[in-house]
Amino acid sequence: MIQNENNEGEYLIRIENSLVRDEFIDINDQNFEKMMFLYNSALKEIKTKIEILQDELKIFSDYEPIEYITTRIKKPETILEKLKRKNLALTYGNMFQEVNDIAGIRLVCNFKKDVYKLVEIIEDFQDVRILNRKDYMKKPKKSGYMSYHLILEVPVNFSSGIMYVKVEMQLRTLAMDFWASLEHKLKYKNSNITKAESNNLIKYAKVINNIDESILTISNRLEKEKNENILIETAESRNENQTKKKIFFKL
Ligand code: GTP
Ligand code: MG
Repeated sequence: MIQNENNEGEYLIRIENSLVRDEFIDINDQNFEKMMFLYNSALKEIKTKIEILQDELKIFSDYEPIEYITTRIKKPETILEKLKRKNLALTYGNMFQEVNDIAGIRLVCNFKKDVYKLVEIIEDFQDVRILNRKDYMKKPKKSGYMSYHLILEVPVNFSSGIMYVKVEMQLRTLAMDFWASLEHKLKYKNSNITKAESNNLIKYAKVINNIDESILTISNRLEKEKNENILIETAESRNENQTKKKIFFKL
């Protein structure tokens, strides 16, 4: 049934023969519900993977890069709007193939370095595929928006096989999240904002980025000092052991 493992780019969108590629979307029918079931399942899978990673990093490395995780499923009306905006026919095929952000997960981190560390770890996940990435941290959007975006294909095991379902992952710092959440309410997809207000929001994004950088500098210094202390402690304990050995041999 739904396997695209050996067939990159081809999405089989039939579940029990009921989803047909060229069928028009009806957000009130059962096929739409079935599509949403796929996205909800993929979201559960990736959320669990990230939570396990979070636990592992905490238990084994005393490292807690993620402050919080949020997930969301795109509203049906917004899915249709997006297809219209892209000038695409409102079919299940296009929905599955062309809309990358129906399922979304956001990882909000403490520092910029945590975002890059997490991206590296996710790149090494054996089963999750990275379809696309946008580094709006290195190159912010014109609006001032900063984040790191990954479009993932997440494997979900169903009774009749594996299906890869797309999930948009956004990684950002607490500071970026603060700005993006407020800017989203005030401006993004809202054209009533004035040019001057819009310019101010861009300015605030830069101020927030400066704060992010300054806090990162403090964190880097503290981390360096901690590592140096560990080195000193290790050297001291080695010396101590050697002294103990000498005393032992004297006896
Ligand atoms: P959308 O059609 O909005 O999904 O954008 P896209 O498909 O061109 O992708 P892009 O990577 O630019 O943006 C994806 C998501 O990032 C959006 O749905 C928002 O959640 C977020 N985003 C992008 N640009 C901005 C912005 O200027 N401000 C805010 N607050 N969020 C943004
Ligand atoms: Mg989006």
